[in-house]
Amino acid sequence: MKIKTIFAIIAIIILPNILTMAQNSLAEATKGKFLFGVAVNMQQVNGVNAKESELIANEFNSIVAENCMKPQLIHPQENKYKWADADKVVAFGEKNKQVVTGHCLIWHSQIGKWFFVDDNGKDVTPEALKEHMRQHIYAIVGHYKGRVKGWDVVNEAFEDNGTYRNSKFYQILGKDFIKYAFQFAHEADPNAELYYNDYNVETPAKCEAIAGLVKELKAAGCRIDAVGSQAHMQMDSPTPDAIENCFKKLKAAGVKILITEWDISILPSPYSGANISNNFAYSREMDPYREAVPDSIQQKWNIRVLDMFGLFLKYNDVVDRVTVWGLNDASSWLNNFPILGRKDYPVLFDRNNQPKSVVDEMIKMAKNYKSQK
Ligand code: G3I
Repeated sequence: MKIKTIFAIIAIIILPNILTMAQNSLAEATKGKFLFGVAVNMQQVNGVNAKESELIANEFNSIVAENCMKPQLIHPQENKYKWADADKVVAFGEKNKQVVTGHCLIWHSQIGKWFFVDDNGKDVTPEALKEHMRQHIYAIVGHYKGRVKGWDVVNEAFEDNGTYRNSKFYQILGKDFIKYAFQFAHEADPNAELYYNDYNVETPAKCEAIAGLVKELKAAGCRIDAVGSQAHMQMDSPTPDAIENCFKKLKAAGVKILITEWDISILPSPYSGANISNNFAYSREMDPYREAVPDSIQQKWNIRVLDMFGLFLKYNDVVDRVTVWGLNDASSWLNNFPILGRKDYPVLFDRNNQPKSVVDEMIKMAKNYKSQK
């Protein structure tokens, strides 16, 4: 057989498969409406499990590091930066032609004490904290300038009741720490998009406070492109109405919306939110699906996923990205939060890296929606 004929046969067999795979991915189905992303861990980026790396490359067109860009990991001590893992994440995204976003620059949690405390164990002055923020943001945003599309500049600055969280940033600098963070990030990379990110954004008082922050930042001349709604959800909360109301409020404030950390816990919850300082004791009763999820519960979860996804599609004029917080059930943080050692099933691929049945329905649903961009 001639070499040309062999190539032709290979092309006929392989090409349609490649095309079908791409056409049937969530990223393909949502194209033109919003980016479809996933949070990645280092095992996936390092290719420890090839199947997982392949899924991330094929199903998603955007990635974010689940942990390695957080202040404590990337900047553990003053003037000491650990770039290795985050560099790999960015290179992995570039290799797969994915949009890479950065999480997160200023967060009260997962941050070195040196930020706030001087050599004598006393709180640093407002000027010193502002300077730490400037150095931190300039170094990190500068390091990835032109390669990271946008940053979660400030993460979780509000309580659910809409008051400012009493963090060290707030105690030392007052609410202006948020404005400074956005200013420094813009100075470090004028082309980067800048986001405010939080959980339970749909809680009315919190949504109101965040919309107010957006207006204040804009009035102060700061760039803010989007509000990130983490969207760590339970089976019954938040309600679709609460989400819609908040989408409308944020849209009116003049920002885009990102669904930044989407997952839906199938387990009973002693609590709602993502405040990682909250933890509760384990009991078998609170971990009911160790062996399997009953069909009726699985159906309920599927409907919940489709309801939420339908809302994101309905608002695709303002929703620019939907990112799932974890590739598969095994790697989800929810197996250890808010109770350590449970077995949750909160994301789109199962423990064998198989897409759940709802994925096909999501793809069909997305294809039927028109882009409103
Ligand atoms: O990698 C170490 C491992 O070496 C060590 O043996 C083990 C023992 O505890 O810890 C491992 O690190 C853990 C890390 O996740 C990786 O699994 C940390 O303890 C643990 O605190 C860390 O949790 C992360 C959490 O943020 C705190 O940073 C979760 O993976 C991550 O999903 C979660 O993500 C946050 C978002 O950044 C912000 N919004 C809420 C969301 C959920 O809490």
